[in-house]
Amino acid sequence: MTSLRVMCVGLACVDIVSVCKNYPEEDSDQRVLDFYWQKGGNAANSSSVLSLLGAESEYLGSFANDNEMRFLHEDFSSMGVSTSHCRTFDSGFMTPTSIIIVNSQNGSRTILHASKNLPEVSLEDFKRINLSHYKWIHFEGRPSFNTPTHEIVRMLAHIDQHNNSRSESEQLQTSVELEKPARPELDQLLDKANYVFVSKEYSQNKGLTSKEEAVKAFIQKCRQGASVICAWGEDGAAAMDSQGQLVTSCCFPPDKLRDTLAAGDTFNAATIFALMEGKTLGEAITFGCKVAGAKCGIQGVRGLRDIKFS
Ligand SMILES: Nc1ncnc2c1ncn2[C@@H]1O[C@H](COP(=O)(O)OP(=O)(O)O)[C@@H](O)[C@H]1O
Ligand SMILES: *[C@@H]1O[C@H](CO)[C@@H](O)[C@H](O)[C@H]1NC(C)=O
Ligand SMILES: *[C@@H]1O[C@H](CO)[C@@H](O)[C@H](O)[C@H]1NC(C)=O
Ligand SMILES: *[C@@H]1O[C@H](CO)[C@@H](O)[C@H](O)[C@H]1NC(C)=O
Ligand SMILES: *[C@@H]1O[C@H](CO)[C@@H](O)[C@H](O)[C@H]1NC(C)=O
Repeated sequence: MTSLRVMCVGLACVDIVSVCKNYPEEDSDQRVLDFYWQKGGNAANSSSVLSLLGAESEYLGSFANDNEMRFLHEDFSSMGVSTSHCRTFDSGFMTPTSIIIVNSQNGSRTILHASKNLPEVSLEDFKRINLSHYKWIHFEGRPSFNTPTHEIVRMLAHIDQHNNSRSESEQLQTSVELEKPARPELDQLLDKANYVFVSKEYSQNKGLTSKEEAVKAFIQKCRQGASVICAWGEDGAAAMDSQGQLVTSCCFPPDKLRDTLAAGDTFNAATIFALMEGKTLGEAITFGCKVAGAKCGIQGVRGLRDIKFS
């Protein structure tokens, strides 16, 4: 049986967006041009794109018990993403939200994050999952608040244990995304997964100035047999395997640029999808760039369902 079941672990949040004619003056009132709620969070976005591409997709994260959570539930379910292992925290917890003010004159986005106290997924929750049902688990590199050893490190160690007692074809593949710089504790994730996605921002923060330089530097820190993948905006993407073989892809610009938000999440999801189908690393990042490029030509990600990719 060739199941393509994949799980993304990380954050889901609600973006509450007001599009204004001008950036508002303090203590004034004005009508907005547009207003909407949108699901955000890297893992939430990537799990949605995986489902839109045709994978059996699941999101794992924490939920609060509020209206924002009901919005997120509805959104995941309309995208065909399972949330069946998510834990809901009952009283006193709040879904992370961002109030976003878009200035329609020049597109500037002012973001106010509100994230109170919602706990991250714990090792204990994770251990309740039957890993035999999955082919791939992707982790969004998130800060670890209350444990000295990063909770994601523990989850990956748990997967190693699972893999050790399985034949090669039954073993789980893992990936981790390192996106935000200035979180040195994320560096300990570099050598714990099979595929490591490093962002342009994360690489530049370490003084690396191109996608090729980035994968060459980071492969040294990855575990034996692992590969590293780096997307670099309009410069496409690069990847390197543990033998040091470099592959690159150009970017695939759409006819008209409409919305580049979540391009990175889309790239990660599409690359994982292609690797799950058995494509080579070079083919996979090219597919990632094609899908991410198409995404930049549409508003949001839903429209990806109707696009045929070769
Ligand atoms: N302006 C663009 N036109 C076409 N494709 C793009 C553009 N910006 C990004 N991409 C695609 O999206 C991928 C991810 O880009 P990245 O800059 O890492 O995303 P993000 O801005 O979400 O962090 C790139 O590898 C590229 O293929
Ligand atoms: C957009 O316009 C505002 C003034 O309304 C200005 O302060 C801001 O710097 C501009 N932002 C960008 C990204 O151009
Ligand atoms: C996990 O799933 C497999 C395959 O469906 C099943 O054989 C096994 O008994 C399950 N393990 C547990 C602990 O439920
Ligand atoms: C899982 O299995 C693969 C072999 O397919 C192995 O290389 C890997 O290190 C194991 N563990 C994790 C966390 O990916
Ligand atoms: C997730 O996707 C939404 C809609 O496409 C986007 O507005 C948001 O910025 C994305 N979140 C992240 C963390 O990229």
